[in-house]
Amino acid sequence: MSRGRILSGMRPTGKLHIGHLSVLENWIKLQNEYDCFFCVADWHALTTSFDEAGNINANAREMVIDWLASGLDPDKAVVFVQSDVPQHAELHLLFSMITPLGWLERVPTYKDQIRHHHQKGKDIMNYGFLGYPVLQAADILVYRADTVPVGEDQLPHLELCREIGRRFNHLYKPVFPEPQAKLAQVALLPGVDGRKMSKSYANDLTISADPEELRKKVNAMVTDPGRIRKTDPGNPEICVVHKYHGIYTAPELSTIEEDCRQGNIGCAACKKILAGKLDETTSPIRERRQRIVQDPGYVDDVLREGARKAREEAQLTMDMAREAVFGA
Ligand code: TRP
Ligand code: SF4
Repeated sequence: MSRGRILSGMRPTGKLHIGHLSVLENWIKLQNEYDCFFCVADWHALTTSFDEAGNINANAREMVIDWLASGLDPDKAVVFVQSDVPQHAELHLLFSMITPLGWLERVPTYKDQIRHHHQKGKDIMNYGFLGYPVLQAADILVYRADTVPVGEDQLPHLELCREIGRRFNHLYKPVFPEPQAKLAQVALLPGVDGRKMSKSYANDLTISADPEELRKKVNAMVTDPGRIRKTDPGNPEICVVHKYHGIYTAPELSTIEEDCRQGNIGCAACKKILAGKLDETTSPIRERRQRIVQDPGYVDDVLREGARKAREEAQLTMDMAREAVFGA
């Protein structure tokens, strides 16, 4: 029996946050069960960062290093950069002919993002940004992928992808499957100050942070403000450290909660436990990262080989798609 096929991707944002670890762990599991294509969506980055294009390559590289250091295996999965595979752009163009504007304007994230960028003084009402989900549909369908591991926020994009594929199949010939989302349990971790984790708030914790930085960031995490002395009974529900313990110290979570409520543990000690756990979890990744960075040709080789495999598969689809539209 042939295996299912997966495509997923991330926009190149540079070094990944610790919250991405659960996404990557899922990918790493899937690479053993499916034929997997994992794509650095650099053209997607360009839809909003067209004026900072010079950062995209370096960010892509840092992100791929994090992928590989976390255990993504280029011998199992095809790891590549979107813009190295021009077939994505070609299919995007064909899809753009059959995608009604109304479908794109109705995507909930479209107006949100326009507003979000507008507030920061930036206008992204460009043709390319409107077409963001069309490009994403091309990413998925150019490999005829049937399964797409994504977070819940991407469901509207995936629904649109199915609609575009369906319309193509109906207008021309059945070429494309209807890919299904594979929702993984993703840990939504706040930044150290309790707000959304973001580089621009400087409240983020990267996967590759060294032990000293981990310790500093954990010390900066906001705790129950009502606790002055370590014997004060605490309320772990309102504490950022507690949220992290829920993921990284899961087996001992109830003990920590109890000790906090009873005033048996001080926040400094509680943070020390967390910093230790985070270090334990990320130190193998840091070690692998170190080795990867020392061999700069390695990442180039991985991406070159990934692009070669991706292009080969994508071209098979494009042959079918062109034939469906224009005839043999
Ligand atoms: N839009 C996705 C995100 O912001 C990234 C992405 C680009 C993607 N192409 C994709 C995800 C194809 C899944 C499949 O997270
Ligand atoms: Fe948070 Fe731990 Fe302090 Fe309780 S003891 S408030 S869980 S840091």
